[in-house]
Amino acid sequence: MKKVITYGTFDLFHQGHYNLLARAKALGDYLIVGVTSDSFDLERGKMNTCNNVMERIDAIRSTGLADKIVIEEYKGQKIDDIQKYNVDVFAIGSDWEGYFDYLSEYCEVVYLPRTEGISSTLLRNERPLVRIGIIGTGSIANRFVPESEHVNSIFVQAVYNPEKSQADEFCRRHGVPYSAVSTADFYAEVDAVYIASPHYTHYEYAREALLAGKHVLCETPFVFKEAEAEELYRLAEERGLTLMVALKTAYCPAFGHLLSLLKSGAIGEIVEVNASTTTLMSEDSDKLDSRYYGGSMNENACFTLLPILKLLGTDYRRINFYSKMKNNVDVFTKALFQYDHGVASFQVGLGVKTEGNLVVSGTKGYAYVPAPWWKTDYFEMRYEDQNRNKKYFYPFDGEGLRYEIKEFVSSILSKDYFYSKVSKRENLVMAKVQEQYMNLENVYWI
Ligand code: CTP
Repeated sequence: MKKVITYGTFDLFHQGHYNLLARAKALGDYLIVGVTSDSFDLERGKMNTCNNVMERIDAIRSTGLADKIVIEEYKGQKIDDIQKYNVDVFAIGSDWEGYFDYLSEYCEVVYLPRTEGISSTLLRNERPLVRIGIIGTGSIANRFVPESEHVNSIFVQAVYNPEKSQADEFCRRHGVPYSAVSTADFYAEVDAVYIASPHYTHYEYAREALLAGKHVLCETPFVFKEAEAEELYRLAEERGLTLMVALKTAYCPAFGHLLSLLKSGAIGEIVEVNASTTTLMSEDSDKLDSRYYGGSMNENACFTLLPILKLLGTDYRRINFYSKMKNNVDVFTKALFQYDHGVASFQVGLGVKTEGNLVVSGTKGYAYVPAPWWKTDYFEMRYEDQNRNKKYFYPFDGEGLRYEIKEFVSSILSKDYFYSKVSKRENLVMAKVQEQYMNLENVYWI
């Protein structure tokens, strides 16, 4: 039996893809199709795919041409696959002419004619745009606009700030067409909203936007009460809208891979998670102002909670908080979590500096993510036998916001397949932890 293999992203499956598969199949008796995983596409800088890997696989399967479909996860996998599946022919479109000649050491390499006049890029450009509006014009909003330009099918259409002059200035700076005079006026212009306003306004804006039928991407910290988070999810679910929290660490490729490795037992059973995020601020910053929900917990706890809830789960037994206060806000807080089978801790600070790393300890080794771990691009797996230690490097492009923006747009455009990288339950528990802290449950002053 003659085996043929081909690879591609196969985004927005089109006639050119079909022809290529048919031509590849005709070269032998058995066709294997390699489809790039979503994280591999992100890693190699392909930010613009519209379909996720499950949708792309379904499209290939429905042609009936593939005898086997494999997922391409890493550079160098082609050689491994060719050997593993005993492949006779590697086939690919002529746009790659010459590029894969190095595979001829392992099998025959064939470049097939490409179908003229069609490509995923062309189809992506024809897709409807998600018109996004931004509420708030602070530093994160300023970073959002250039980052969104790396993502397909999104356009920043409008901005709202109750101080209209600031919205006008923002529009001028970033070339955004519309500066809204009221929120009603603003919602009429957009399909989705990015909430980048001060923390204490998130709940009200998110609620208003969902009631207006808009998808919501809300900056961190999401909200400070579990009941508020529950209500927002209910409003979104009832209306079939996307509600996502812009916790950028959760969406970067390296962090996703770190979680998969740890969940699949790379360091044995996970016993302890410790994470620190500290950012020294000047004392007159709004972020240290109690009137604006300032403080280290409100500013940074969502980041440190993420690996803890992801790795040890949301069913902790108890949390104790230890806070150093100044001017009525915590300039530093350490939290200790007790679980049935593990412990966790985090340090957050706006007035105290610590090493900002993440360490996950297990029965067979530990994972070390150096500072600033929340912008993960590199981590190490370390073992008693140091020869087994392994280092992992990933891209973290630009400000890293493009990954979450891409997920947000994908969730709006491909509803049925979308699964959220931070679950509803995890977001509810993050709000619950903030609420517990604000209610001073198990909070001790140091
Ligand atoms: N292909 C083809 N004819 C086309 C488009 C793609 O034969 N008109 C082939 C490619 O050469 C490759 C396979 O289909 O062998 C998968 O290509 P992929 O990169 O996924 O598709 P494109 O449409 O080229 O995507 P993009 O526009 O993102 O580059």
